[in-house]
Amino acid sequence: MNDNLCFLNGEYLPLSKARISVLDRGFIFGDGIYEVTPVYGRRLFRFDEHLARLQRGLDKIRIANPATREQWLQRCRTLVGAVGNATGADDQVVYIQVTRGVAPRDHVMPEGLVPTAFMMSNPMKPVPAELRHQGASCITARDFRWQRADIKSTSLLGNVLARQMSADQGATETILFRDGFLTEASSSNVWIVKDGALLGPPKSELVLEGIRVELLRELCEEVGIAYNLRPITEADVRSADEVLLSSATKEVLAVTKIDGEVVGHGAMRGKPGPVYAQLYEAYQQAKLTMSI
Ligand code: PDD
Repeated sequence: MNDNLCFLNGEYLPLSKARISVLDRGFIFGDGIYEVTPVYGRRLFRFDEHLARLQRGLDKIRIANPATREQWLQRCRTLVGAVGNATGADDQVVYIQVTRGVAPRDHVMPEGLVPTAFMMSNPMKPVPAELRHQGASCITARDFRWQRADIKSTSLLGNVLARQMSADQGATETILFRDGFLTEASSSNVWIVKDGALLGPPKSELVLEGIRVELLRELCEEVGIAYNLRPITEADVRSADEVLLSSATKEVLAVTKIDGEVVGHGAMRGKPGPVYAQLYEAYQQAKLTMSI
């Protein structure tokens, strides 16, 4: 295990030395919010968007933000610098977690708790070249998670169970349907391409608003691809021209097999398609201009 520098409640220390109380509500209840921000060339990608979502999550679960933007940014930079120097990795993934804090176990939210703030950064594991080239194989499942997937909560048991279903089959992701409609995947947003347009599910409490949801809207506008968020049925996914995943770590990734069936039509059947290729290219450009 790496022993890089991390941040816990005002202190920088090696991961192996970081300690929290067993009564931390993050440990007892999963009562917290987290954020995963990619770093390219030691610069934070879409940092303010990630921080804004952290703030929205804290507001939704009624935890006061324990730091200012400048403090979060400074801490991120300190960790990225330390991990970069220790590992040589200029591309990293910063993890931020805020929990409600430490208190005797009681479901009711105690007043006046000091939130626990934890941060670490890890070298980014890029998507393997073969997976990028061939596209991902995914399985599908019923979305059995709770109905507040919009909250980026550390209570991720539903997502963990969903992800393991695909891991058990050697697949990259588990695409989830609720009542016959696409929501997202265990740790990614899901997109389809129909007649050249990129389509994603509408914003709702059933789907996490990934930072790439708005980014892809901007990239589509830039390269002239139609973009629309609307309800997507299971049949739409299975008959799509292309299927894509997006997340902080996957960026955009083509899906070329779903439940063992090949995705797409004609010459592009089973291959990463043209809309994917355009968005992937645009994404690589965005890394250079949207990182601080
Ligand atoms: N996962 N939906 C879910 C359930 C997710 O967990 C994620 C990200 C996304 C994509 O969001 P974004 O574009 O902001 O990364 C959608 C992160 C990477 C994780 O939990 O590690």
